[in-house]
Amino acid sequence: MPQRRLFVTTALPYANGPFHIGHIMEYIQADIWVRFQRMRGHEVHFVGADDAHGAPIMLAAEKAGQAPEKFVAEIARSRKQYFEGFNIAFDNWHSTHSAENTELSQDIYRRLKKAGLVYTKPVEQFYDPVKSMFLADRYIKGECPNCGAKDQYGDACENCSAAYAATDLKNPYSALSGAAPVLKTSEHHFFRLSDPKCKAFLKGWLEQPGRLQSQVVNKAKEWLDGEGDKALGDWDISRDPPYFGIRVPDIEEEKYLYVWLDAPIGYLASFKNYCGKTGRDFEQFLQDPGTEQIHFIGKDIIYFHTLFWPAMLEYAGKPYKVPDHVYVHGFITVSGDKMSKSRGTGISPLRYLELGMNPEWLRYYIAAKLNANVEDLDFNPDDFLARVNSDLVGKFVNIASRCAPFVTKWFGGKLKGVELKKESVLDIALTVKHAAPEVAAFYEAREFGKAIRRIMDLADEVNRFVDAEKPWELAKQTGQETRLHIVCSEAIEAFRFLAILLAPVLPRTAELSAQMLGVKQFSWNDLQKYLGQDHAIGAYKHLTSRVDDRQLDALFDIASVPQATAPQRHAEQQQHIAKEKSVSDIVTIDDFNKLDLRVAKITRAEQVEGADKLLKLTLDLGGSTRTVFAGIKSAYEPASLEGKLAVLVANLAPRTMKFGVSEGMVLAASGAEPGIFLISPDAGAAPGMRVK
Ligand code: 2FM
Ligand code: ZN
Repeated sequence: MPQRRLFVTTALPYANGPFHIGHIMEYIQADIWVRFQRMRGHEVHFVGADDAHGAPIMLAAEKAGQAPEKFVAEIARSRKQYFEGFNIAFDNWHSTHSAENTELSQDIYRRLKKAGLVYTKPVEQFYDPVKSMFLADRYIKGECPNCGAKDQYGDACENCSAAYAATDLKNPYSALSGAAPVLKTSEHHFFRLSDPKCKAFLKGWLEQPGRLQSQVVNKAKEWLDGEGDKALGDWDISRDPPYFGIRVPDIEEEKYLYVWLDAPIGYLASFKNYCGKTGRDFEQFLQDPGTEQIHFIGKDIIYFHTLFWPAMLEYAGKPYKVPDHVYVHGFITVSGDKMSKSRGTGISPLRYLELGMNPEWLRYYIAAKLNANVEDLDFNPDDFLARVNSDLVGKFVNIASRCAPFVTKWFGGKLKGVELKKESVLDIALTVKHAAPEVAAFYEAREFGKAIRRIMDLADEVNRFVDAEKPWELAKQTGQETRLHIVCSEAIEAFRFLAILLAPVLPRTAELSAQMLGVKQFSWNDLQKYLGQDHAIGAYKHLTSRVDDRQLDALFDIASVPQATAPQRHAEQQQHIAKEKSVSDIVTIDDFNKLDLRVAKITRAEQVEGADKLLKLTLDLGGSTRTVFAGIKSAYEPASLEGKLAVLVANLAPRTMKFGVSEGMVLAASGAEPGIFLISPDAGAAPGMRVK
């Protein structure tokens, strides 16, 4: 198979908040596909970036009392923990607020202008005289011109669904300042998307067989072929100051490129930044017809990616090249509930990690539910628990845990070469091996659910083989050593093949499995050969545990967690998860001494009505008393805590919770495995003593 060169991206997230589960789903989808391609020996460059520009981010920064540059830089710093936490292997993460993006965006703008596709015309728009800025429709409110409902946004009425222009609203006001907006005219720059040659190009691009999913082609063609007031219009690509963005080049006046113009160029900017770091020639790579440019995106941004983006690239000319594929996914719902983009969904990815839930579970579950269509995917907690526990643990891990110990105990850890077998046993490893091309085709086509189902059917077959052969009984019979050896070796080989097939979805479990089996990292080629006679495997190692129902309760127990504002959330993120892999940043002794840690005696521990994970603790600090709500209910009976010593962060700002005020925090350990372990000083320590 010839080696492919793939340049793969995911949609650039706005740099104004933490990732929600929808972002993580997209990254997992793309990461699985990328890992699969890498295992097949292809050259893959997988990049992302923050989408840093635009009015909403400028206003969010203003609200947080920060310069937008600082605001987006802080958000950027919070991204790493998600990628590490969920094993998402981007080669590079960059920002649209970067030198590369400024250069590329201005270059593309100039080229489009030169191609005669950019023109200017005056636009009359609402202007907020208090904030001194033009107002996008979402910042204008007023009474619906159709039904009279109050406080409706400038584009459509939530009450009667009528669509209208902001200027049609009755008694309009600025949602930013409350001031009555005035009409003001300014010169805007437009991209001539309606140009017949542009439309002809797009039609050809869209219809290229295999380029896009059929649902996406249909949607894009509806827009392209629209008539009357639905006709494809030209695209307003400039904004007036104040705006956080990239300057429109070569003009005196201060104007900025609309964020949606520079955002997709951010894909190229991140890639260029990566080329700089890795000594690659960006332009050469980009224009090489052998390079495939592939974007993974959600269904809400099809318009930008199938009309503006390819047209911009086409008419900018070399070294730019149109995207080869845009792969679109649906939204993620939680127990059937659609959640808004800004609020995210009920699952916080950081909380998931913080609870010590295994990232591979989520990867597995998402993979099992994904297909190549533009369909929504539902996260259902019961289904999640059932699938992870019965498939991953009950089927896959079960094979190794049942067979590897015999190899270790009876045969010095050495396998019997399966091709040398003398006895006629079902050739189960071969069965798995033979299914590999089918599984590969599913991965290639992003039919991950089908791939998982096929792999689990194979795991079922292997388990049936083990059940029929009963190694535990063979081990008790005399004269059955050879058969025991063959059966276990067959099963281990089958397990290894399954681990390879699952590796794009479960990179960490695959890594642990490879270590256990005494082989280096898995590649798809490893499906071609057996480990062979006398290959030594290690002792069976724990690969993954079961999902604990209580973890899911805690994951959804949003009621007991105060809803944080964006900056608070950001600050909280910084404290979250010192993950097993990475130790947190270095602090000085002075930083450490800011914490006032005290020995505290738990004098009372009580259940909290309505709280799934909290216990109410009364603590004696050697003179004073504190009340603390601690998230340790899943691990401790209240009575068992009374009289115990704990360590209290005594100078933590009090936190108002649903159940009362928590005056500090007790220290406890938790990790990738379930369980919470209270930190307790040795006997002899007295309440009130300082811990240093
Ligand atoms: O919809 C969004 O979240 C945008 N920030 C996506 C941008 S994708 C690309 F164009 F950068
Ligand atoms: Zn209305």
